[in-house]
Amino acid sequence: MPVAMISTSTSPAFGPSRSSSTISSGCFASNATAARVFMRSLSCYGRPAGRVTRLHLSPRHAIAARMAASDLADNFRRAMRTIASTVHIVTIHVDGTPMGITATAVSSLAMEPPSLLVCINERAAIHQVIGTRTHFCVNALHRDDVELAHHFSDYRMRELRFRTGTWLTDGEGPPRLAHAQASIVCALRQEHRFGTHSIFIGEVESVAVREDTDPLVYLDGVFGGFGG
Ligand SMILES: Cc1cc2nc3c(=O)[nH]c(=O)nc-3n(C[C@H](O)[C@H](O)[C@H](O)COP(=O)(O)O)c2cc1C
Repeated sequence: MPVAMISTSTSPAFGPSRSSSTISSGCFASNATAARVFMRSLSCYGRPAGRVTRLHLSPRHAIAARMAASDLADNFRRAMRTIASTVHIVTIHVDGTPMGITATAVSSLAMEPPSLLVCINERAAIHQVIGTRTHFCVNALHRDDVELAHHFSDYRMRELRFRTGTWLTDGEGPPRLAHAQASIVCALRQEHRFGTHSIFIGEVESVAVREDTDPLVYLDGVFGGFGG
């Protein structure tokens, strides 16, 4: 399916765009070599029933193992850049003040009960407070709203975020974007920590869907949409 590019991301979190043909066999070869070096570097003593009870890693081979790990992270990053994601703004209300963040790490979870999850980096401002709220809203962006995606992913634009677009509020409920592709208000049910991120699980309470279907997608560091 053709992807029409609209705007290049300036978000420092995602870095510059790279050619999609940059995965070289050399990259995997160096990974494999490092892995072999790593495996050879393991000195094992006493293996009752085939179990390793003691490991020794020389400093030289510890460096090789670290390089293998960094290759893995780099390859994972490259892989993720080839996977298109819908762009969302996740919002909450905190004592009368709206907060929001651009997020692609959003997924439907189940139909019984209707639920979804969002993954938030611990360094994001919203991370500190979302777990204290009863509700959050996931606003899937329309292709027209690339400016909002930029504002909500740039910490310098925090003060301007809710001045762009038409935001609807229902008392202390999370802000809902009137022209979103879809907006889904959820009751926060669970929070799980993994690495640098927290996963917030919400049970769907209300949904609004825009008539025309043309979501904003993010692929290889670029915002775009499907079709012409
Ligand atoms: C396309 C795109 C997708 C993003 N997805 C996520 C995400 O799923 N989770 C996350 O924590 N940050 C994500 N970010 C990064 C945050 O939007 C960014 O760090 C934001 O500035 C954090 O909010 P704050 O400035 O209020 O701290 C994404 C950024 C972009 C440009």
